[in-house]
Amino acid sequence: MCGIVGYIGREEAAPVLLDGLARLEYRGYDSAGLAVFSQQDGLKVVKAKGRLKVLADMVQGGRTIHGTVGLGHTRWATHGEPSDVNSHPQVSASGRIAVVHNGIIENYVEIKEFLQAKGIKFVSQTDTEVVAQLLEYYYEGDILDAVSKVLSRIQGAYAFGIICADCPDRLIAARKDSPLILGYGEGFHFLASDVTAVIKYTREVCYLEDGEIAVLTADKATVYDAYLQPIEKEKHHVDWEVSAAEKGGYEHFMAKEIMEEPKAFRDTISPRIHNGHVVLDNLNIDGAYLEQIDKIYIIACGSSYHVGVVAKYIMEKTLRRPVEVTLASEFRYCQPLVTQHTLAIVISQSGETIDTLAAMREARRLGARILSIVNVVGSSIARESDDVLYTWAGPEIAVATTKAYSTQLALIYLITLRFAELLGTIEQGEYDKIVAELLLIPTKMEQILNNKEAIQYFASIYFNHDSVFFIGRNIDYAIGLEGSLKLKEISYIHSEAYAAGELKHGTISLIEDGTLVVALASHTALFEKLMSNVVEVKSRGADVIGLTVESKGDEMKKTVDSAILVPDTHPMLVPSLDVIPLQLFAYYVALMRGCDIDKPRNLAKSVTVE
Ligand code: G6P
Repeated sequence: MCGIVGYIGREEAAPVLLDGLARLEYRGYDSAGLAVFSQQDGLKVVKAKGRLKVLADMVQGGRTIHGTVGLGHTRWATHGEPSDVNSHPQVSASGRIAVVHNGIIENYVEIKEFLQAKGIKFVSQTDTEVVAQLLEYYYEGDILDAVSKVLSRIQGAYAFGIICADCPDRLIAARKDSPLILGYGEGFHFLASDVTAVIKYTREVCYLEDGEIAVLTADKATVYDAYLQPIEKEKHHVDWEVSAAEKGGYEHFMAKEIMEEPKAFRDTISPRIHNGHVVLDNLNIDGAYLEQIDKIYIIACGSSYHVGVVAKYIMEKTLRRPVEVTLASEFRYCQPLVTQHTLAIVISQSGETIDTLAAMREARRLGARILSIVNVVGSSIARESDDVLYTWAGPEIAVATTKAYSTQLALIYLITLRFAELLGTIEQGEYDKIVAELLLIPTKMEQILNNKEAIQYFASIYFNHDSVFFIGRNIDYAIGLEGSLKLKEISYIHSEAYAAGELKHGTISLIEDGTLVVALASHTALFEKLMSNVVEVKSRGADVIGLTVESKGDEMKKTVDSAILVPDTHPMLVPSLDVIPLQLFAYYVALMRGCDIDKPRNLAKSVTVE
C-alpha cells in the first residue's frame, strides 16, 4: 500500500526522500511524488504515474529540486485511477499546503461537496485532495490548529505527512489505523510508513499511536495527543542491519528470502527451545486459562490465513479443542461466537493489515484474549495484543511472503507444543520426538534448497501452462492453498487449490488433456487416498507433479509425471518442508514468464485499506 516518507534536516531532501521511497517500493504502488520546499522556489511538487524511476529521472535523482524539507509518496490507487494528477502529494488550491496520505477518508464526498459549495475547485479524484483543501479552508496562520480541526472532521483511516509553505521549518505527521513512525537523528527527523525507509539514517524510532499528531523540526520532534497536549513517546532502537533489507547479490528479494528460510526458522525456534523444552517467555497463558477456553479463533489474511489453516489441523488434533480459522475480512461481519473464554490467535507479518487489525479489535470487544504472531516489531497488532510472539524472520521485502510464512508456522508448532503440555494432551515421548524433529527442520530445508535446480527444471517444463490445480488432503490441502497463492500472485497463472476429496464434486470437470495438477501427498496417513485422486486426474489427461516425502517417492513416481521429494519428518512438521519447493516453483515459473517477481501487479505487501 502507499508509502510515506518525510524528511526535515540540513541535507538536500529530494535524494533522501527518493532513497526512502525506493526502500518502500516493496509495499506496492502505481505512482510516486515529491514535495520539497526551498526559499527560492517555494513548495515544488513533482509527480509521475509508474515506477519510482520515472519520478527519479524527472528530477535527475533529486539534483534538480532543492530544499532541506520535504515529503515523498508512493501511491497504491484507491480513489481515482493511477495518474499524474491523482498521485500524491496533493496540494491545496493556493499551492501552499501539500499532503501525502495512506488510508481512505470515508466521508470525503460529503466534505468535497461542502468545499465545492464554497467555490473550491478540485483537480483530482482523490480523497486526499479533500484533506489538502480542507486544511486550507481551516488554515488561519496556525497549521497545527488546522490539522487538528481537519482530523476531527474526517472519518476513515489515515497516515498523513503535511507541509505548509508558510512554516517550512516543520513537518506534521498524524495517524489513525495506518502505520506511521518517526525517525530521530542529529539535526534531522523523519516520518515514514515503516522503518525500512529510515534505517540507513537512523535506528532510533517511535511508533505513532492512533490519534497522535507529531510536529517535526530539524532539531525537535514533539508528539501531541488528539487534544494537542504534548506527550512523551518511548523511543525504540531498531537492531537489524540495513543489508537485511537489500538484495545482497540475489536477482530478487523473493529468491534471497527463500534462501534465508532455514536461518529465519532457526532464529525463531532456537532461542525458544531449552534442553528439549519449549519456553515461550512472552506468553502469559497458563494451564488454568487454557482449561477454561471454549474455542481458539485464528484470524488472518492472505498467506498468514493459510498458516492458520495448517494450524487448525495441527491444533485440533493435538489439543482436542475446537479451533476455527477465519479470514479477518469476514470475521467482523459474521457475528462470530466469541466469548470471554475465547482465545484469538492473530497472525500477521506486517502487523498492520487493516482487516486483521479491525477483526482483532472486534474479537477483543467481544471478550477474547488476543495472542498475536507478528514479524514487524512495534506494529499496531503487536502493540494491541495481550500476548505477542515475534517471528524473527527479519525484514521481508518481496510482496509474496516466504520466510515470514515459514516462521509463522514455526511459532504455531511451538504454541501447539506448549499448549499441549499445559493441557496434558500430548505424551512425553511424542513431545520429545516433535521437538527433536523441529530442530532438524532448518537443515532439511537446506537440503531442499541445495537441490533447487531440480525445481527450476520442473518449472522449465511447466511454465507455459495457463491453469493449475493443487490438490491435497488435510495439511496437504492447507499447503496447497499457499502453493497455489504463490504461483498465481507472481506468475499470473490461474491457479486453484482444492481438498482432493472435493474433486468429484465439480473441479474434475475442468481437468482435460494437459491440465497441470500439483498433487500433494506428504501426509502419509492419507497417501493412498490422494494417489487415487491422482489416478483419476491422470486418466482424464492431466499432467501431474507430485510432492511427497522421500520414503513415498518410489511409490509416487509410478503414477505422476514429475515427482518432487522432501526429507521425511514428523507429520506435524511436513508443511515447513513442503512449502519450500512450492515457493521455488512459483519463483522459477514467474522468472521464466518474465514477471516482475518482487512487485507483482496490483498487489501490495502491507494492505492497509479495507
Ligand atoms: C498481502 C501480502 C501477503 C500477506 C497478506 C497478509 O496480501 O502480499 O503476503 O500474506 O497481505 O499480510 P500480513 O502482513 O497481515 O501477514
